[in-house]
Amino acid sequence: MGKTTLTANLGAGFAARGQKVLLIDLDAQASLTISFFTQSEWTADLLPNRTVKHWFDGIGTDGALDTPADLVSSPPRVHDKLARSSGRLDLIAAHRDLTDVETALAAELLSDPAGFSLLHGRLREALTHKDFAEYDTVLIDCAPNFGLIAKNAVAASDLLLIPTKPDYLSTNGIDSLGLKIRTFIEEYNQYSAVPVERPAAAVVFTMVQNQNGSPIDAQRSVISRIEAREVPTFSTTIRDSKAVYGPRPSTACP
Ligand SMILES: Nc1ncnc2c1ncn2[C@@H]1O[C@H](COP(=O)(O)OP(=O)(O)O)[C@@H](O)[C@H]1O
Ligand SMILES: [Mg+2]
Repeated sequence: MGKTTLTANLGAGFAARGQKVLLIDLDAQASLTISFFTQSEWTADLLPNRTVKHWFDGIGTDGALDTPADLVSSPPRVHDKLARSSGRLDLIAAHRDLTDVETALAAELLSDPAGFSLLHGRLREALTHKDFAEYDTVLIDCAPNFGLIAKNAVAASDLLLIPTKPDYLSTNGIDSLGLKIRTFIEEYNQYSAVPVERPAAAVVFTMVQNQNGSPIDAQRSVISRIEAREVPTFSTTIRDSKAVYGPRPSTACP
């Protein structure tokens, strides 16, 4: 929990510090997209032909896009705020029918199991295009399910950030996610002529309630339990704050 909020705020923060940042929204709920664009901009300007679905859909067809770089959009308000810095924040928007892409990719895999690494390596391959070379950081926001689209993101990444609220239910899935990631990379490398390294992964504790400068006892004990299992964790935590993290990042960006 807190994936989109972390992605949006990291993106805005890096851009405010002068980095060129690309955000990719791979969740059909499009929370990241509408953190930076208004609902009506998304619906009118992006949904018809400028979303990541259009790139996934085009693959293997006559109308295939040379690169998803053609789908990059710049949120106008953020653009204005960054006008006097060298920072830049761009985004490839999500589509509400991204789940159809998931289904189509799964069907492709079923009909050609040997295409495993090709299918899961599409985003990785696409991001090597020269048009993406100008970005200092690419942040990819995933949906909660570990399907073919999220696996494309894993194969394309150097680092996986796993935000979690330090409570029993939220941290429950961390071990199984770790195992799924390991299994996926092993399978990918069985099929791929060019093996990929398993990306480093680390937990980011979010929605932390501090009291006198440290997390409240209940959260502290969950954090200690995770650290004791030798799961890599960031020592920096994100505090629970509806006031800071509630508003849209486009208005929060300095
Ligand atoms: N640090 C935080 N403090 C308070 N509320 C937060 C924080 N991070 C996220 N939230 C809120 O929690 C909800 C879920 O966050 P979100 O980032 O959309 O999670 P996910 O992308 O994992 O579904 C949102 O309402 C968001 O505003
Ligand atoms: Mg989200």
